[in-house]
Amino acid sequence: MSTQNADPRAELKRKAAIEAADMVREGMVVGLGSGSTSAFMIEELGRRWAEGLRFCAIPTSERSAEQARSHGIRLVTFATHPQIDIDIDGADEVERGSLNLIKGLGGALFREKIVAAASRKFVVVVDDSKLVDRLGARVPVPVEVATFGWTSTARQLEALGARITQRMDRSGNVFVTDGGNMILDCHFGEIADSAQLQAQLAQVVGVIETGLFIGRTSEVIVATATGLQKLVA
Ligand code: 5RP
Repeated sequence: MSTQNADPRAELKRKAAIEAADMVREGMVVGLGSGSTSAFMIEELGRRWAEGLRFCAIPTSERSAEQARSHGIRLVTFATHPQIDIDIDGADEVERGSLNLIKGLGGALFREKIVAAASRKFVVVVDDSKLVDRLGARVPVPVEVATFGWTSTARQLEALGARITQRMDRSGNVFVTDGGNMILDCHFGEIADSAQLQAQLAQVVGVIETGLFIGRTSEVIVATATGLQKLVA
C-alpha cells in the first residue's frame, strides 16, 4: 500500500497511528479501522507482527483486510471472537467537547460502527485538522442506504433537512460499499444535536447505518505540529 506521500497531513497521521498501535498487546483481539490513518496503523502492526507480536484482528473493510493479510496478520470473525479488546480507527471530524464523530468519507462506516460497538476500547486516530467545535460544518454525514427504493429514502432524508449528494467512485460510477449498498452524503451544516439527528436518521426506512458515531469514543489521539495530544471521554 502507498504511504500517502501526496497527503500533507500524512506525517501527522502516521504519528497518531503509531502511538495507537503501541496500545496493542500480545493476545489481543484488535479492530482494524479503514482509511489512510488506519493504513499507517496496520502498517505499524504489520511491523510489530514481523517482530513476533501475536494478536488477531477483525478488519472494517476489504481494503484493510487485504493490507493486514499482506503482513500475515491473523484475521478472525465475530463468530469465534465476539469481543474486541481494542478498535483503532480514523475519523473525518471529531467534536472537541463530546468526542462524537463523523466517519465514512472512505465508505466503510457500517462495518466500522459494528466493530466499534463490539469493542471494549475505541481509539480514534487523527491529525488536528479533524477537530471541530460542532460536527457537520465541513463534511457531510455519510449515510449508507439500500439501493432498492433509494430515491424514496433520499426524499425522507431531505425532509430531515439534508442536502443530498449521491456518492460516486473515482471512475464516476455509483459507489458501492463492501456490503453492496450505496452512500448518500447528507449535508446538514453545523449539527446542533448530533444524538437527536442520529435517532431521526435511524428511523428512516432504507437507512442501513449513518456515519454519526455518538458516545462510542474512548480516546482520541490527535497529532499536531508540536506533538501528540490525548483526549479522553
Ligand atoms: C472510512 C473512515 C475513515 O476513518 C475516515 O474517512 C478518515 O480517513 P483518513 O484517515 O483517510 O483521513 O471513516 O470510512
